[in-house]
Amino acid sequence: MIINLSETNSLVGEWMSEIRDEIIQTDRMRFRRNLERLGEVAAYEISKTLTFVDKEVQTPLGTATCGVIKQQPVLGTILRAGLALHQGLVNYFDKADHAYISAYRKHNRDGSFEISLEYVSCPPLDGQVLILSDPMLATGASLVKTIDHLAEFGKPAHIHIVTAIACTIGIEYVQRNADANIISIWAGDIDDELTAKGYIVPGLGDAGDLAFGTK
Ligand code: URA
Repeated sequence: MIINLSETNSLVGEWMSEIRDEIIQTDRMRFRRNLERLGEVAAYEISKTLTFVDKEVQTPLGTATCGVIKQQPVLGTILRAGLALHQGLVNYFDKADHAYISAYRKHNRDGSFEISLEYVSCPPLDGQVLILSDPMLATGASLVKTIDHLAEFGKPAHIHIVTAIACTIGIEYVQRNADANIISIWAGDIDDELTAKGYIVPGLGDAGDLAFGTK
């Protein structure tokens, strides 16, 4: 399942216009904050798919019954570019356990690249809902490699991928190479083209560099 948040949420188009704009995106704090807001909206939409239970709480004047999330999702992010989106998810799922994965493109002399995974920290995932944030779903290679690697921590009941821009080529790659039955992709917007170097067109540029400076 793929959800384009620009089509389902009335505010996302406004934020995407700033995230993509080559002038506005140079304001690093605003760029990060817009990604964070996107993470918050994604958290809100994903929360509708979770299971809720009634919880009785004592107020100063009586007892109230509130619906609370039965089991918080695990929040995983791909370092470093995913951190701002991740913060948005953390703002809403504030009791969640976290997973951090450092995945980056190791470029070869011929222009091709491989995905290198280094630091991985993850709680047990068996039966859990996992939300993985990565701002750019370009080729899909780093997400598939990350999902494959996380299998050693258990099989999640569902994986929600949260991304600012998803490229149709990457979406198809993830659907072909990971268990599509348990994967939902929540994208701020969807683009159709990739450059030879794996950048999304029109995209937004390099999300990690825009959020945190050049490597
Ligand atoms: N990573 C980015 O930061 N931008 C792209 O367009 C693709 C991958």
